[in-house]
Amino acid sequence: MISLSQSPIDPSFVQNPYPFYERVRQAGGFVRWTDYDLPVTARATVVGAALRDRRLGREAPPEYAPEIPPHLAPFYAVEAHSMLELEGPRHARLRCLVLRAFTTGRIARLAPDIAALAHQLIDRMPQGGCDLLDTFARPLPVILIARLLGVPEAAAPDLLAWSNAMVGMYQAGRSAETEAAAVRATEDFVAFLRDTITTKRRAPGDDLISHLIAAEEAGTHLSTDEMIATCILLLNAGHEATVHTIGNGVRALLENGIGGDWLTPERIEGTIEEILRIDPPLHLFTRWVYEEIELAGQTFQRGDQIGLLLAGANHDPGPWEDPAQFRPGRPVQTNFAFGAGAHFCIGAPLARLELATALPVLFNRLPDLRLAEAPRYANLYHFHGLERLVVTY
Ligand code: HEM
Repeated sequence: MISLSQSPIDPSFVQNPYPFYERVRQAGGFVRWTDYDLPVTARATVVGAALRDRRLGREAPPEYAPEIPPHLAPFYAVEAHSMLELEGPRHARLRCLVLRAFTTGRIARLAPDIAALAHQLIDRMPQGGCDLLDTFARPLPVILIARLLGVPEAAAPDLLAWSNAMVGMYQAGRSAETEAAAVRATEDFVAFLRDTITTKRRAPGDDLISHLIAAEEAGTHLSTDEMIATCILLLNAGHEATVHTIGNGVRALLENGIGGDWLTPERIEGTIEEILRIDPPLHLFTRWVYEEIELAGQTFQRGDQIGLLLAGANHDPGPWEDPAQFRPGRPVQTNFAFGAGAHFCIGAPLARLELATALPVLFNRLPDLRLAEAPRYANLYHFHGLERLVVTY
């Protein structure tokens, strides 16, 4: 296996990681990324096959489970009940209970709410120009997910702060301060949700937390710890990635001089899929190997880990002609922004609805929307999102 080195905090990589993914893809099915000491792939067929193969998974085999340092115990105590970190029957049970509460009908009914919220956020924007991340991309998903769960909207700033501190645990080169902030945020978040869940047990409403309390699968309900971990997962996963897809998407549209005519009801689906394909917000996911497996001519053993470059697979010229070109009119075919297989994003229908509803409102209300400065990506790998998005209108 060929080895390639690339610091994930190198400024040119942070701004544009795609040339590195291209090198990885050309060098073989798997390449050892020396900075992570991890075999990674950026080929669409290999990423797709690996995500769907049950001989691989997110949860470490017990004998390889990393030792958890005591100071990080509160953070990992939540992860221990998070469906994203589980496999097999425990994962299936949690996912099924959440899907029961998170129905397509319940999501589709949010469209008018999303449009109204987008209008309100635009009404509040200052004259002439602003940072669209602060005024639009950040508040929209967090307010929506708070409403959906039935958490008071006034808590949105806290939710944003907790979630930002917690995702610091997944970033390359995290510091002791990042860890301490993540643990503090976890403790505050857990205490907040414990109160919210207690209140909703007494007085349920028509919200996701109340539906999760009621959801039943083969006679079992979610325990309070499972409820807390699920709410944290939904609140965190439910906004971080959407914020950055809105930011990256608006950037792609404006840089390519593409506006409202690609956001019409007939064309919106293709445009949203192209936004998700060309510049997704989450780039690298790992999988543990549970039994010997051959992938792309490479044999892996139980206890090995592999890295799947979702954003690299989205730029594979096999499925996508001229993959670096932003072409909203391309034939729609599945890309890897939401993953695939057992952990395929539960929030994909909601995220697609948010994008397909909010972006047309934004471009119709602000027809002269322009970039005021070249947007820069934040140094947060494996997240790929902008620092700010300063626009004029
Ligand atoms: C554009 C926005 C989003 C993107 C790009 C995204 C991406 C992803 C990806 C790639 C995964 C799979 C990770 C893996 O296989 O290792 C995932 C899982 C997940 N996402 Fe999303 N997501 C988005 C929005 C949302 C929203 C809005 C929600 C919730 C309301 C959500 C909830 C989840 C959950 C619960 C999982 C775990 C599923 C499981 O483990 O079975 N996501 N997401």
